Amino acid sequence: VGETVTLQQGAGEFFNPVLNEQQKLAVKRILSGECRPTPYVLFGPPGTGKTLTVIEAILQIHCTLPDSRILVCAPSNAATDLICLRLHQSNVLKPGAMVRVNATFRSTEQIDDMVKPYCKDGDDIQKALWFRIIITTCNSAGMFYQAEIRLGHFTHVILDEAGQASEPETLIPIGLVSEANGQVVLVGDPKQLGPVIKSQMALAFGLNVSLLERLTSRDIYLRDEDAFGAYGAYNPLLITKLIKNYRSHSALLALPSKLFYHKELEVCADASVVTTLLHWGKLPRKGFPLIFHGIRGREVREGHSPSWFNATEAVQVMRYCCQLAKNENAAVSVTDIGVIAPYHKQVEKIRFLLKSIDLADIKVGTVEEFQGQEYTAIVLSTVRSHESLFGDEKNCLGFLSNPKRFNVAVTRAKALLIVVGNPHVLVKDPCFCALLEYSLRNRVYVGCDLPSELEHLQK
Ligand SMILES: Nc1ncnc2c1ncn2[C@@H]1O[C@H](COP(=O)(O)OP(=O)(O)OP(=O)(O)O)[C@@H](O)[C@H]1O
Ligand SMILES: [Mg+2]
Repeated sequence: VGETVTLQQGAGEFFNPVLNEQQKLAVKRILSGECRPTPYVLFGPPGTGKTLTVIEAILQIHCTLPDSRILVCAPSNAATDLICLRLHQSNVLKPGAMVRVNATFRSTEQIDDMVKPYCKDGDDIQKALWFRIIITTCNSAGMFYQAEIRLGHFTHVILDEAGQASEPETLIPIGLVSEANGQVVLVGDPKQLGPVIKSQMALAFGLNVSLLERLTSRDIYLRDEDAFGAYGAYNPLLITKLIKNYRSHSALLALPSKLFYHKELEVCADASVVTTLLHWGKLPRKGFPLIFHGIRGREVREGHSPSWFNATEAVQVMRYCCQLAKNENAAVSVTDIGVIAPYHKQVEKIRFLLKSIDLADIKVGTVEEFQGQEYTAIVLSTVRSHESLFGDEKNCLGFLSNPKRFNVAVTRAKALLIVVGNPHVLVKDPCFCALLEYSLRNRVYVGCDLPSELEHLQK
């Protein structure tokens, strides 16, 4: 398992000086392409620097291998834009190096101003092929099958959030990689959102299992303490697992680490970032940056829309945003606040409310749109509030009751997480119930009365 790669920046240097040893090794492996044609896998819990490592790998490939042509994809526009933004922020690439290709129907309104300039040359697919780094969603990569493209045009196909894509979706970009010497890199976390599959038949036959998840359950990717003990128990040629979390305050990390990652997440975040709100006036307990705000609101659907909203929760979310953004002592910029709701209707309602008080710049979106993202403060509205449907509890909570969706929602915050929801309903879901118990034990629950099974935790 020799290290024979020369990095662009000179002996042992990386463009990003903060990379840890595991991340550096992953970059070197990807660059050396020793595992070809087997895909290289980079996986690990939220905030462990998977995307950061991908960015370094792209820069190193681009600068070290002059003949390389890289296709970088993610299943959602949000995760794809994030790669473009982070490459831009690296300040390494010269103009004309990368292009962001969008689906023809994508409205420019949703695109970050920093990303917009990279989209211009992406409108003409033939022109886009001149760029050595092409960034697009997995589905939009399909447009390259219509273009005049040399077989094996791409030397590298890199997929971030690969766990969120269905296998056929993943195969769209992979089908474009050079058969002769192409390198495929799959990056993601099988414990975060998987592909959304609506057909029951497709579900029954396993279409909800991503390629990342299926591959990593094959022998060569499995943990093997005896053979690879010195390399974190995985074959370093093929796979790297990251476990140091650089995103969140320890109080926010403890529960997801216990529920989904056998408590193996290490808290490594920059203290000057994650402790900024420990003395915020609205915290029930200073020094513990979590609030669970219980509200017995009402869930509503409009007309025939399948999407739910909850006005009482929307107003409470607006209050918190206002207190965060407009309070002189708080010093949270609007661009550092994210609001998550599991339903599009609630997202719309909250956007409308925030616009009415000049806070339209706060990002509001569904959990899907937040996968891969991070914000200093996150406000989550869980929406569902129908207390009488106890017969079929899972159905009553709909797709809110999904551990992967829960995991993504609660791991986006760096310094503060506020959850607004109805404890009488959420107690029926194992993950939200664990969050309620955690909040009560740590004395950060505020709001309405509690269901009888939790009352004993309220001192
Ligand atoms: N080695 C490191 N040193 C310091 N900060 C780091 C390091 N690695 C990552 N970070 C920071 O940690 C945060 C999370 O990184 P990143 O978004 O790449 O994680 P991720 O694994 O892709 O998360 P997700 O699963 O949510 O997509 C970012 O702010 C990043 O800059
Ligand atoms: Mg990421």
